[in-house]
Amino acid sequence: MTSPSDPPGASVPPATKPVIEFRDVEYRLADGASILTEFQLSIESGETMVLLGRSGAGKTTALKLINRLLEPTSGEVRIEDRATFDWNPIALRRHIGYVIQETGLFPHYTVEENIGVTPRLEGWDRGRTRHRAEELLALVGLDPRAYLARYPHELSGGQKQRVGLARALAADPPILLMDEPFGALDPLTRMEVRQEFKQLQNRLRKTVVIVTHDIAEAVDLGTRIALLEAGAIRSVHPAEKFLQSDEPLAVAYLAQMRSLQPEGETS
Ligand SMILES: Nc1ncnc2c1ncn2[C@@H]1O[C@H](COP(=O)(O)OP(=O)(O)O)[C@@H](O)[C@H]1O
Ligand SMILES: [Mg+2]
Repeated sequence: MTSPSDPPGASVPPATKPVIEFRDVEYRLADGASILTEFQLSIESGETMVLLGRSGAGKTTALKLINRLLEPTSGEVRIEDRATFDWNPIALRRHIGYVIQETGLFPHYTVEENIGVTPRLEGWDRGRTRHRAEELLALVGLDPRAYLARYPHELSGGQKQRVGLARALAADPPILLMDEPFGALDPLTRMEVRQEFKQLQNRLRKTVVIVTHDIAEAVDLGTRIALLEAGAIRSVHPAEKFLQSDEPLAVAYLAQMRSLQPEGETS
């Protein structure tokens, strides 16, 4: 673990056991098509691991193998030193918060009800659930009095994404998976929500796996960056060294992305 005085993005010394570990994972579709191959990755407690790669590289598939929305064809994914198929799937999903780009909020539930989904499954009473919803809304920068009773269609994109994050944190899971969480937001809102998340993560120190194709986001949020290509991890870099990497695939990826991104975005 790192102490609160460590600078953001400081490397986390290896814990005794990784919190999440991919061991020789292969994932194939029913027709035999290989989606992930020879996938090896260890994620330590309290770090933010970024899976960076172009569309189709296998990032979402890798995340879904962590919370057992998918199961490996061979090899195993271990959570806290236990293979996902040895976990009760419900217990596993309560242990792991999941934030996706489209937020996945239930349209007919209010903000309070959306945040309360997992607490209700946990059998919390109404008062405790409401109190938790209020606390979480404040944590993600939304005034509980103004937002508890709203429906998702009454929220902006940035507000929905904040509520999605609050919902993922509701039962205080030690692990948080985020699949392009800021991807659908306009550039300014995206920067704002990203900075808020960064501050939050500095306080909460969850074990986070975040998927993105945005280099600036990867460097800003990551402790380490795993570069994915064609269903395999090509290299893993400390985030603060990624932009200076001389590893050929990282250099090629950076050059390609830089040619597509507006000036200054990755500086
Ligand atoms: N259920 C599926 N059926 C067919 N192809 C799939 C399925 N799931 C994933 N794929 C393919 O696997 C590859 C990796 O997908 P994905 O993990 O979603 O990539 P990413 O999140 O990096 O964009 C893509 O080529 C995608 O088309
Ligand atoms: Mg994806």
